Amino acid sequence: MGGYVITGGRSLSGEIAVSGAKNALLPILAASILNDKEIVIHDCPDISDAENMIEILRTLGCSVKREGNTLVIDASNANAYTMPPNISKKIRSSIFMLGSVLGRFKRARFTYPGGCEIGNRPIDLHLDGLKKLNVRIKEEYGYIDCWGDDMRGASIHLDYPSVGATENIMMAAVAARGDSVIQNAAREPEIEDLERFLNELGFSVSGAGTSTVCIKGGGVTRRAEHTVIPDRIVAGTLLCAAAATRGDVLVTNVDTGHISLTLSKLNEMGCDISARRDTVRLKAPERLRRIKLLETLPYPGFPTDMQAQMFALCSIADGTSVIVENVFDNRFKHAAELKRMGADITLKDRTAVISGVERLMGATMFAHDLRGGAALVIAGLCADGRSVVYGSEYVDRGYERFENMLGALGADIDKFEA
Ligand code: EPZ
Repeated sequence: MGGYVITGGRSLSGEIAVSGAKNALLPILAASILNDKEIVIHDCPDISDAENMIEILRTLGCSVKREGNTLVIDASNANAYTMPPNISKKIRSSIFMLGSVLGRFKRARFTYPGGCEIGNRPIDLHLDGLKKLNVRIKEEYGYIDCWGDDMRGASIHLDYPSVGATENIMMAAVAARGDSVIQNAAREPEIEDLERFLNELGFSVSGAGTSTVCIKGGGVTRRAEHTVIPDRIVAGTLLCAAAATRGDVLVTNVDTGHISLTLSKLNEMGCDISARRDTVRLKAPERLRRIKLLETLPYPGFPTDMQAQMFALCSIADGTSVIVENVFDNRFKHAAELKRMGADITLKDRTAVISGVERLMGATMFAHDLRGGAALVIAGLCADGRSVVYGSEYVDRGYERFENMLGALGADIDKFEA
């Protein structure tokens, strides 16, 4: 297991550019199999979730070439609709391929992706939506066998605005006969980016970013070129690292419209924020103020993917903060690790009560998931002395050389391999 060695106490300063968004890139990679013409995608971060998705595309017969942060994809020879079990176990987002594989082959055979580090991850909303499109689904022996030879447009009302379910249904519905509408759709910016990509491919989708997404069935695909939107969670994470270390950092290549609630919470904690359309400068206070209440919600509510990072900030803030995790059922695993550093935390179900301490003490900690790992690194940056965070493999899933980003801003951090 690899990790990081961090010596705390340095204030971060300088300028850092944000890469393309992991959670936009993954469904866009999935959607690439819908097209038998060349696709060029720019601003693809070099992260392991993307590499695993590229491996999936290659396994299904696509050619994918990486030229720096640009991917050139040719799915004309895609020839398989069965997702190998070893891969779907390896990366949960393989389930994002279900809709597009059905759209391309009218057939799909996947294994259940299973839960992950942040809790149970059912896919009932995905499967119910596909059944509404007249997909026949047989679930047995851990396999999900889908037949979509007669997909028809439908009106689908999601019980919960699931990001993945919205995206899977969009990618299947473009291949259905007739038009579809998704009600109570997820409104995340990554859904809008997928809509833009599908329309660049030659399909006709509208309404992404609102709760009602309309998809016209059919469409002639064509060569496409796309630039992925900036990663709002990476941007928020870097701003939290600056906030934790009394820093003064300028983050560039960010869509500030996508992080407005994160910015307002950091401002509530006493940070001086100056935001333009695609840059944010954050100047941190000597000591952060507590957050009375932070609740994670589907977009445009506070993002669950920023919860752990804010949790680390609350651990050193002046006063008592309350965080409620409404989206996932087991996303506080970083709390036990922060307690090793002297954090004062009380957990009850989905609620955390955090009484900020003056200083955290450096400690040896273990990441249990992607965003929790980033949060532990942030805690190490502001702690007294030396910290070791094991589990850099989790962080590598969503951050492109995280240690280099932080090091470029003045952090004392080294990465070690397993
Ligand atoms: C996406 O996951 C993101 N992943 C997650 O980011 C993010 O935390 C999540 O959306 C919420 O914003 C990608 O985009 C690759 P959901 P997804 O379906 O689609 C329940 C990160 O750190 N649910 O919106 O899996 C589910 O259990 C990752 O970058 C059902 O009950 O999220 C969860 O409680 C972590 N049935 C809630 O909905 C379903 O069929 C939100 O899940 C589907 C979901």
